[in-house]
Amino acid sequence: LRSGGKRKLNRVKEGFVLWMTGLPCSGKTTIARRLCEMVDPESIEIMDGDELRKGLSAGTGFSREDREMHNKRVAYLSNLLAKHRVGVIVALVSPYRTNRDSARSLVSKNFFEVWVNCSVDECIKRDVKGMYKKALKGEIKNFTGIDDPYEPPANPEITVNTSSNTIDQCANQILEFLENRQLVGNQKI
Ligand SMILES: Nc1ncnc2c1ncn2[C@@H]1O[C@H](COP(=O)(O)OP(=O)(O)O)[C@@H](O)[C@H]1O
Ligand SMILES: [Mg+2]
Repeated sequence: LRSGGKRKLNRVKEGFVLWMTGLPCSGKTTIARRLCEMVDPESIEIMDGDELRKGLSAGTGFSREDREMHNKRVAYLSNLLAKHRVGVIVALVSPYRTNRDSARSLVSKNFFEVWVNCSVDECIKRDVKGMYKKALKGEIKNFTGIDDPYEPPANPEITVNTSSNTIDQCANQILEFLENRQLVGNQKI
């Protein structure tokens, strides 16, 4: 039962879209990658906002309209993948409630909003790519949390608090949710 030196515990049983929303540096990418390893990298696709902006959404900016278009593309593609039993993990700031709601209605089933909750102060401390520093100096505009709004989810299916929990704790919390819903389960060999 070993593949790549690791015991393969889980597999995706039914397609789903986990829509992770949160401030820059809240931990979306980190948790998405950790969760992917824990479940099954072969049947998970991570739709990472920063990565998609280099391809699918190249040339798309950070105005309200551009963010909306970016969101819609990601939702559309996620839905197509989920129909084919892919476990889709979206890691996108997606700051506007209306955009997340439209993603929810675009995805035909198994859509779950995950609020990656972390205080702005903690995100500024992390500042993984030095973007907060630039935004605070006014060198970049429309930066979520600084001079662009972030609207917290009103009713997310899952909330992970990354200021007070470890990466593994957060990833496990989401994994348990998926297991309870029978979307992910032990591999039968
Ligand atoms: N519980 C946690 N979950 C996720 N990331 C965490 C957590 N605690 C600390 N971190 C750190 O916070 C940073 C989050 O960065 P990143 O995942 O790139 O954020 P985002 O994709 O939301 O912009 C990483 O350096 C990560 O190691
Ligand atoms: Mg990221």
